[in-house]
Amino acid sequence: MTAKISLRNVTKEFTVRATKTTSATRLTAIDSLSLDVRDGEFLTLVGPSGSGKTTLLDLLAGLSTPTSGEVLVNGKAVTGPGKDRAVVFQQYALFPWRTASANVSIGLEGGGPDGKKLIAAHGPRKPANIWRWWGSRASRTATHTSSPAA
Ligand SMILES: Nc1ncnc2c1ncn2[C@@H]1O[C@H](COP(=O)(O)OP(=O)(O)OP(=O)(O)O)[C@@H](O)[C@H]1O
Ligand SMILES: [Mg+2]
Repeated sequence: MTAKISLRNVTKEFTVRATKTTSATRLTAIDSLSLDVRDGEFLTLVGPSGSGKTTLLDLLAGLSTPTSGEVLVNGKAVTGPGKDRAVVFQQYALFPWRTASANVSIGLEGGGPDGKKLIAAHGPRKPANIWRWWGSRASRTATHTSSPAA
């Protein structure tokens, strides 16, 4: 059976910029990682801060590309974000230049139902309530906007 998720010899390196006192270096966040996750399996990544958990999730989400190796989902190479995957970010991931409603609807722009219609139906009735609504909805808003398909 094809694995749902396959990592084949995945390495991810970052360039750490030079500072006044140090020169630029390469940092290996993930080094030749291979694993398979089968349909129905539940995988938890545990590791200290800086061990590469987010780096790996970004690769799976298609938000970044491996330096070498392959990331496969349903047997297909991940080449970018897709509607078959979603990410809930560690911190709220809102676009500060957009309104709460525009943040929620961004995931729906370009296809499917109109997000603004959803806000009109379920959002605050008065503009003065927008900030209370924003606060109470911030984490849900962040969750709605954190799909890489957005
Ligand atoms: N864009 C980047 N440029 C340079 N280095 C990076 C970049 N992103 C991550 N790193 C480095 O890669 C390593 C792995 O970082 P990562 O964020 O994946 O760790 P993490 O396990 O998610 O940590 P935490 O538990 O704190 O969220 C760290 O040393 C980090 O500083
Ligand atoms: Mg992290």
